Amino acid sequence: MDKYVINGGRELHGEVVIGGAKNAAVAIIPAVVLAESPCRIENVPNISDVTLIANILQGLGATVKNVNKTTLEIDPTTIFTQVANYEQVKGMRASYYLLGALLGKYGKAEVAMPGGCNFGVRPVDLHIKAFEALGAKHTLKNGVIRVEAEKLVGNKIYLDVVSVGATMNAMLAAVKAEGYTEIENAAKEPHIVDLANFLNSMGANIKGAGTDTIKIRGVRTLHGTTYSIIPDQIEAGTYMVAAAATGGDVVVSNVIPRHLEVISAKLREMGVTVDEYDEAVRIISHGRLKKCTIKTQPHPGFPTDMQPQFSALLATARGISIVNENVWENRFQYVSELARLGAKISVEGKSAFIEGVDHLDAAPVKATDLRAGAAMLIAGLCARGTTEIENIGYIERGYENIVEKLRNLGADITKKRTMTTTEVVMA
Ligand code: EPZ
Repeated sequence: MDKYVINGGRELHGEVVIGGAKNAAVAIIPAVVLAESPCRIENVPNISDVTLIANILQGLGATVKNVNKTTLEIDPTTIFTQVANYEQVKGMRASYYLLGALLGKYGKAEVAMPGGCNFGVRPVDLHIKAFEALGAKHTLKNGVIRVEAEKLVGNKIYLDVVSVGATMNAMLAAVKAEGYTEIENAAKEPHIVDLANFLNSMGANIKGAGTDTIKIRGVRTLHGTTYSIIPDQIEAGTYMVAAAATGGDVVVSNVIPRHLEVISAKLREMGVTVDEYDEAVRIISHGRLKKCTIKTQPHPGFPTDMQPQFSALLATARGISIVNENVWENRFQYVSELARLGAKISVEGKSAFIEGVDHLDAAPVKATDLRAGAAMLIAGLCARGTTEIENIGYIERGYENIVEKLRNLGADITKKRTMTTTEVVMA
């Protein structure tokens, strides 16, 4: 198992360039299935989740070409099956976008129940509700979801809970459905708007993405397109928090500042200087920061995917901070790992109470999921001594070239390959 080894206590200085949005890419790549000709996708993040979803598409028969590190050319016309590979799919929750895309294009799909991060139950009932509203039938057997429809017909779809995935999947299934579809109580994240813009660039007729009501008029065919994915709001926010935590002066570039407003506001509340430019934000942070309260909400509220990173930052802020997690039922599993570094955090139900300490001290820790891993990185960058982080595969699912980007900012971090038991025996 590879590890990250960090010698903490160094300020971050310089510029970091943000990549394409993971949570847009893992929906846009499956959406290519809906096209009648090849698509060119640019600003694709160089992360393992993208590699996996592209491999799953190849497994269906699509032709996928890596034009360069951040550009894919995908030809969906060679797809010969609507049954996704079980082993590949079960490792990544976002694979369920293939249900909506394959159903929307072929009227049928077979995809394994989703896997992914383990912070509580991650149901797909609203996805199924959306498909059934459009006329599809579904079965769930042997861990596989099968959806099928003679014909997809537009309808009103009310999402009982604001769900990014269900909103995306409803759009994918409805773009070619006959007639008019309205998705009510829709999620409004930037990646929802990005998927809608991508589909419209293929000839779809989608209005209202980014509001809580998305209106879709079905079209008969969707053509190939060239599209550039938006910058990753959460990758950007993670580097903003890392700079705030270590102290220093960092320009985070290739971002859309409007997508970062709530993160910038919270950092300013804590005493961090945040300057906004057209496509960059600058973080200047010195001395001990002030406590604050975090309440995660669907967009435009505070993003749940920034919650663990802020907890790592608040661990050394002055005073007692409160973090309320209102999206996921249990997204505090990383707290026990932060405690190994000396953080003083207690969790009661949906709230974590963080009593800021003067400093953290290095310890061996592990990533319990993607954003928890980012929190361990931030804590390790601040802690006195050498911190080792295990389970870094979680981190590399969503952060491209993170060791290189942090080293360029002055961090002392290396990736250490540790031999597996088998390798030790073989040695
Ligand atoms: C997406 O997950 C993101 N993943 C998550 O980011 C993010 O935390 C989440 O949206 C919220 O913003 C991707 O985009 C690949 P949801 P998703 O459906 O779509 C409930 C990361 O770190 N719900 O918006 O799975 C659900 O239990 C990852 O990048 C239902 O009840 O999240 C949760 O409480 C982690 N029924 C709430 O909705 C359903 O059918 C929000 O979930 C679906 C969801």
